[in-house]
Amino acid sequence: MSDIQHLLSIDDLGDNLRSVLEWGIHFKQDPDTDYDFKPLDELSIGCIYEKPSTRTRVSFEVGIHKLGGQALTLLKGDIQMGKSESVADTAAVLSRFLDGITYRCYGHDMVTTLSENSTVPVINALSDKHHPCQAAADLMTIMERNPTLEGERVAWVGDGNNVLHDLMLACAMLGVDCIWAVPAGYEPDEEVVKRASEIAKNTGSKMIETNNPVEACKNATIIYTDVFISMGEEDLTDKLAAFDDFQVNEELVSHANNDYGFMHCLPAHRGEEVTDAVIDSANSIVFDQAENRMWAQMAILTFLCNRAAFHAYDELY
Ligand code: CP
Ligand code: NVA
Repeated sequence: MSDIQHLLSIDDLGDNLRSVLEWGIHFKQDPDTDYDFKPLDELSIGCIYEKPSTRTRVSFEVGIHKLGGQALTLLKGDIQMGKSESVADTAAVLSRFLDGITYRCYGHDMVTTLSENSTVPVINALSDKHHPCQAAADLMTIMERNPTLEGERVAWVGDGNNVLHDLMLACAMLGVDCIWAVPAGYEPDEEVVKRASEIAKNTGSKMIETNNPVEACKNATIIYTDVFISMGEEDLTDKLAAFDDFQVNEELVSHANNDYGFMHCLPAHRGEEVTDAVIDSANSIVFDQAENRMWAQMAILTFLCNRAAFHAYDELY
């Protein structure tokens, strides 16, 4: 049996999620991180993008370099996959050269197929259904403020999309309450909600859905939103009308705890899902989140590509 493990949704980390995030926090804070510890020495990671990216691309390239590895960014237009070569054949070929693959795609089935045909770990760098690296960075950011996560209540306001799916799963896995306010017709995927609710039963957290943003934000410690129109939905401009009452603005955040944190995976459409007054406020932690993409992914890469080094790190430093 192969011992490779892929990260297609945050659920794939199972009981390891907390230790991966703690590892990322420790590594970020470690003054000796510069830079004797090179768990990806001699390893090459291919990073395939079918959609644009700023944070994911730069954080993977820089993070892989810091870990001593080589990142090969492969843009859709530059490779054969999807034109003259299947995803399955591409996975088989890349596995002969690479030690890991990250993949940003449209349909989630694409990254599933890639992983099924790869003999090296595959990391989902965002699909239409899941964004596990974002959720890892998000929960790491919340843990930096509150290491035990006790008392956290994460409120999502907006679309029932890929970012929400992994956020609710990660909250459930770590015992954090999550309430999402979405317009009717834009609910998250039923299977993902079912899975998050199952996990939450074991960890004791609450998973709650509402159509009322004020209800979601009451006593929230975190308010999180994302664009209403995701990549690939650019033609669905009619969708915006459903989100009239879902803007995160000063009135809405007044229902949260005073020291709530405002989160957004970015890029933000300022004036649409969030006002400047909120995203630029002292409560906003959006740029910590963005930075933590790199540290969380460094932890994930080390966990998936060099497990021995992942476990040895605490003893080494
Ligand atoms: N949050 C996020 O994934 O950003 P990018 O699309 O810029 O990678
Ligand atoms: N929901 C957004 C997230 C971007 C990081 C999208 O899929 O476009």
